[in-house]
Amino acid sequence: MYLTQREERALEGEYGEALEIAYRVLVATGRLANAKRLVPIKWAHVSGVSYLTIGEYGLDFLRKISKSRGTKFKVFTTVNPCGMDLENWDALGIPADYAEKQLKIIACYEKLGIANSFTCVPFQSYRVPRHGTHIAWAESSAAIYANSILGLKTNRESAVSALASALTGKTVYSDLHLERNRKPSKGIRVSLKRSLTGSVDYGVLGYFAGKQVNGVIGFSGIRQIKDIAETKALCAAIGTVGSSGMFVLGRTGETIDFTEKEYEETLADLSDSETGEAVVFGCPQMTMEELYNLSKAVNGKHFRKRCIVFCSSKVYELAKSRGYAKIIEGSGATFVRDACADFTPLISSLKVGSVITDSAKGAHYMKRVHGVKIALKDTKEILSECAT
Ligand code: F3S
Repeated sequence: MYLTQREERALEGEYGEALEIAYRVLVATGRLANAKRLVPIKWAHVSGVSYLTIGEYGLDFLRKISKSRGTKFKVFTTVNPCGMDLENWDALGIPADYAEKQLKIIACYEKLGIANSFTCVPFQSYRVPRHGTHIAWAESSAAIYANSILGLKTNRESAVSALASALTGKTVYSDLHLERNRKPSKGIRVSLKRSLTGSVDYGVLGYFAGKQVNGVIGFSGIRQIKDIAETKALCAAIGTVGSSGMFVLGRTGETIDFTEKEYEETLADLSDSETGEAVVFGCPQMTMEELYNLSKAVNGKHFRKRCIVFCSSKVYELAKSRGYAKIIEGSGATFVRDACADFTPLISSLKVGSVITDSAKGAHYMKRVHGVKIALKDTKEILSECAT
């Protein structure tokens, strides 16, 4: 792989240990992908923020990188949600030893120079660069959204490779960064007797498609998706299983049918309970549009079960200024800001055996991480069952 003289010197450690490690990661990734060179990026989005996912080993690694003299992120860098609400963690029952580790992780990222983000929907709160811009995003749901909806170019980065990109301002010029690779490799033809509607339908489709196709997915038989909740659900579910980093709409050569049979089988795989003891919204974290819709739907109602709504602080503050947060809180729901809905000790601390959620990705992870049963239902259904 071609490296400039400056990149070679960084690889040899001339500019410090952190950059040396970062270039080693990029060069190793590039060689595996048969990349010819690196490409500059405008935005890095780093995952690996929750202590529940990176643990002690990850914290040690971040400490080492952030302590390396003069090391700063070279490009605009946002980070994924962490494992707790940064202001209310104590009141929400997060153990103090967990919080201490979580705050140390955040201190490392802050030292390196992050935008105050803690979100898995970074495109919601920051200006999106122009079509075709190269970025390096680690959160799979956001990376798929960036490629498929925003026309940005990113591979599905790992926590470590996105960190390397943030430190160098570059990524490996391979796969979805190259126009020729952004064409569908296999198609999913939606052949249902009804139209898909709502985040559960799109989540189920995405989960099925992600399992079947590892390259770019070509969907046919569905209309242009305009609703952000549906689009987010589709991208997040594709990213939950398999390695696809993008979808397009349109017919393609080899095609797999998605009929009632595939829909029902996939739904049964995700949803193993009739109902749940608590409600979780916000995997991926909720956007302003979704909070507006939720506030309209719960206005004057009250949740009969514990209901938790995950979003970033930025989105929460905006929702508060517009009065949506007050309505949602008035219905008895609790906001948890800046945290991931799945990789947080909060779900286990609820001490429930089952959860109701509208998220296929949430269903997949909450089952595995917290051992709860899942009822996967659309918001409308959840509200009619749980709020009066
Ligand atoms: Fe976001 Fe966590 Fe779900 S990062 S997409 S809320 S698993």
